[in-house]
Amino acid sequence: MEFCGQQVVLISGCSQGGIGHALARAFAAEDCLVVATSRSLSSMADLQEDPRLFLQELDVVSDESVDHVVSSVLEKYGRIDVLINNAGVQCVGPLAEVPLSALQNTFNTNVYGSMRLIQAVVPHMASRKKGKIVNLGSVTVLAPGPWAGGYTASKAALQALSDSLRLELRHFGINVITVVPGAIRSNIGNSALAGYNQMPEWKLYKPFEAAIRARATMSQGPHSTSAEEFAKRTAAAILKENPLAWFSYGHHSTIFAILYHLPLFIRDFVMKKAMKC
Ligand SMILES: NC(=O)c1ccc[n+]([C@@H]2O[C@H](COP(=O)([O-])OP(=O)(O)OC[C@H]3O[C@@H](n4cnc5c(N)ncnc54)[C@H](OP(=O)(O)O)[C@@H]3O)[C@@H](O)[C@H]2O)c1
Repeated sequence: MEFCGQQVVLISGCSQGGIGHALARAFAAEDCLVVATSRSLSSMADLQEDPRLFLQELDVVSDESVDHVVSSVLEKYGRIDVLINNAGVQCVGPLAEVPLSALQNTFNTNVYGSMRLIQAVVPHMASRKKGKIVNLGSVTVLAPGPWAGGYTASKAALQALSDSLRLELRHFGINVITVVPGAIRSNIGNSALAGYNQMPEWKLYKPFEAAIRARATMSQGPHSTSAEEFAKRTAAAILKENPLAWFSYGHHSTIFAILYHLPLFIRDFVMKKAMKC
């Protein structure tokens, strides 16, 4: 068989400059057959010449798009060994005023988009009694702060779904892994700012505008981990025969792990100082 022995890895959200793009290259470097997807092929133009990559357009909020891509991959390779739910969007704004449509869009992409792909690949993985499903969470779930509560709630939901799925899917030989990035250099800051610029003017929160806007780019500081380094470590962790159920890496991951264990009044004190709320 032409593709025998190589892992087929399907990744969502592989636009150039982001974590998905770096993951696509990291899995290819590990000799995997990578299906790199994004909403538009033009955002992966630099990957077009790489024969290790099969590029597909995929919008995770569309049933049709997900069904089409999963069928195309099965037709081409006959299997999907690893699904990586990487596509995600930020949502910055105070919860009392952020438009519900923005929250819905965040959950549609981060939660239901991931579930749409999971439900599409599980029948195939279950029939082979083999497969890995990887969901990208966030360290912010360990200590949810102000100004991006909608985003953090969507990642908390995805992490909770991963925990239930892991127990439900193990009977079918499917591993479910939560990957929890710290602060990783990517396009997320620019995308979050673009989304933020569409928000209405805050009423009660007008005095906090600068702090809220700053939240959009908080993960993109000078010490943020490069997407390449994060992707290399993540690919190695996922490709292990018995991967851990939880893999966290990147700048700020230790501080968030500590915050998680602190009494709430101390955590709130730290957040108030750090996030100017
Ligand atoms: N960077 C960090 O510090 C950090 C920290 C914690 C968690 N994460 C998570 O890591 C994942 C990757 O984020 P990133 O930092 O690489 O951000 P990014 O550079 O903004 O990449 C996000 C990717 O998701 C894609 N996407 C958005 N909506 C989509 C949809 N409906 N269908 C398909 N693709 C869609 C984007 O496509 P377009 O280019 O078309 O918009 C882009 O390719 C996300 O789940 C994010 O929440 C990142």
